[in-house]
Amino acid sequence: MQNKVRKVLITGGTGYIGSHTAVVFIEAGYEVVIADNLSNSKIEVLDGIKKITGTKPEFHKIDLSDENITSDFFKTNNNFDVIIHFAAYKAVGESVQKPLMYYKNNLNSLMNVLEAMLTHKISNLIFSSSCTVYGQPDELPVTEQSPVKKALSPYGNTKQIAEEIISDTLASNNYLKAISLRYFNPIGAHESAVIGELPLGVPNNLIPFLTQTVAGIRKELSVFGNDYNTPDGTAIRDYIHVVDLAKAHLFAAERLLKNKNKSNIETFNIGTGQGNSVMEIIKTFEEVTAQKVNYKIAHRREGDIEKVWADTKYANKELAWKAELSLSDALLSAWNWQKRLS
Ligand code: WQD
Repeated sequence: MQNKVRKVLITGGTGYIGSHTAVVFIEAGYEVVIADNLSNSKIEVLDGIKKITGTKPEFHKIDLSDENITSDFFKTNNNFDVIIHFAAYKAVGESVQKPLMYYKNNLNSLMNVLEAMLTHKISNLIFSSSCTVYGQPDELPVTEQSPVKKALSPYGNTKQIAEEIISDTLASNNYLKAISLRYFNPIGAHESAVIGELPLGVPNNLIPFLTQTVAGIRKELSVFGNDYNTPDGTAIRDYIHVVDLAKAHLFAAERLLKNKNKSNIETFNIGTGQGNSVMEIIKTFEEVTAQKVNYKIAHRREGDIEKVWADTKYANKELAWKAELSLSDALLSAWNWQKRLS
């Protein structure tokens, strides 16, 4: 008998990670439906997904933070095998300036989706979490058992609270299953350079600011601090190619759909296991692109941690997933994408 085609709802699916995840799921034979309010993405991303895969996902422009709009949407759209919930605001600095906007949007969206899952008996959830929940770990590499520390920003706090809301909701019933993926630093773009990171306004994150500087859109890159306790004094992060990150969602979905999960909520670190400093990023970018990065050393950025990188053994083993693309692949793809934009 022909296997039923699996159907996935991707909230925030026209966003950076969401769009790359949509490509992976379409290529794996899933029917993909995207719900997004386009507050931080463009509808043209759907054409990019179609150009890569030949399929334009079904799209619904809805604000998931609105209870009635979300409830109405799910009344006529609810036969999903799995929901991947990306829809959230994600700028650390902005969240400090506008905490209530972050708490209302990020938490109400999640709660409305969970409510709909309970109402319509949708069993499987994959949640977009972040290594931000660890704060500055005491030990490195950081494992899933490392303590969740007081969040350094309202953005990070929404991720911590969200994980607790999911855990408590799952404890209240016995058919909902969830996997929370704690992303490290997603960078790069699809090899086609047809989709990529589309920061609206001045980028907060390192790589888009760096590529916009090299493209001449920004005057120079500020390196936020070179007085950290690291080999070259600049802060260290675990930079993961967004395509590897997108693939991790497919492995997580397969785990849930095949009932291989060992408890009804599981958490995995999705990183490379490798840490790189800001200066190493700049040097590697210059090597792989033969471009010069114009930068200056500036003061530390409020709220930044010094160093973090992932212990990925648990995800490698239990999800049978491992990051395969290199830092050079990611930086070159980021530059190819920037050139398409400019
Ligand atoms: C990386 C490094 C900066 C910009 C945050 C969130 C995380 C995720 C990714 C959403 C740091 C330095 C940066 C610049 C710089 N959020 N930097 N000059 O802060 O590690 O993580 O964004 O998906 O959850 O916490 O990422 O790219 O902002 O910074 O020197 O112009 O680059 O100090 O050391 P971050 P980032």
